[in-house]
Amino acid sequence: MTDIYRLLQFTDPHLYADRAGEMRGAITFDTLSQTIGTARRSHWPADAVLVTGDIAQDESRGAYENFRAAFDGLGVPVHCLPGNHDAPAYMQESLVTAPFSYCGTLELGPWLLPLLSSHTPGDAGGMLAASELERLDRLLTANPDRHAMVCLHHHPVSSGSRWLDTVPLRNAAELWDVVERHPQVRCLLWGHVHQEYEDRPAGVLLLATPSTCRQFKPNVVDFALDEGRPPAYRWIELHADGAIVTAVNWCGSSS
Ligand SMILES: [Fe+2]
Repeated sequence: MTDIYRLLQFTDPHLYADRAGEMRGAITFDTLSQTIGTARRSHWPADAVLVTGDIAQDESRGAYENFRAAFDGLGVPVHCLPGNHDAPAYMQESLVTAPFSYCGTLELGPWLLPLLSSHTPGDAGGMLAASELERLDRLLTANPDRHAMVCLHHHPVSSGSRWLDTVPLRNAAELWDVVERHPQVRCLLWGHVHQEYEDRPAGVLLLATPSTCRQFKPNVVDFALDEGRPPAYRWIELHADGAIVTAVNWCGSSS
């Protein structure tokens, strides 16, 4: 029987120190709780949870305390990385003890999942520091026989929306240089764009996932909300032979 590892990705919850805090009409603690509840009814248990940034909207310690409260006690490891709205120093204080981890590397059987920081102070876009690119290159060099899924916040390819493409991963070419040296990279996974995205150029699966709060309208010139789109998460199955089966689950849908 083939081993299958089950992951759930939650991204861009945009929490506040105040649990009643609202972003663009959504009470973000409530929409995160709703999304976790949907996942627990539909895709539970999981081997691990991935959270790909913008955990906080107000860069407060309290936002991370609320995040801990939402996920603590679920009995599943929660692997986190920062987005442009986050405060990495507070994340490193709050999210380094079990079940949480910060910018580590998740190992699941034959799979390796490096979680990278592209947070760049004062920039809504992001950069991977040379140290992060070197860490990724070293990990992949040391594990040539393991399948890899690389996780980060910012999009390393065009999003299709002009306004979002002013705040991308600014040194995506350097990430692609590393990825292209290591054919065991099966997938890149990110948040930031608040919409579903899937492509598979040159055999590498590219995935972005809607937010647990409000969504952005795809393929537009200027910012627009995707009104009517509910909160969502992504479920992912990693197979021992390197195959990936995944889909987005929207809250309120029947799947
Ligand atoms: Fe976000």
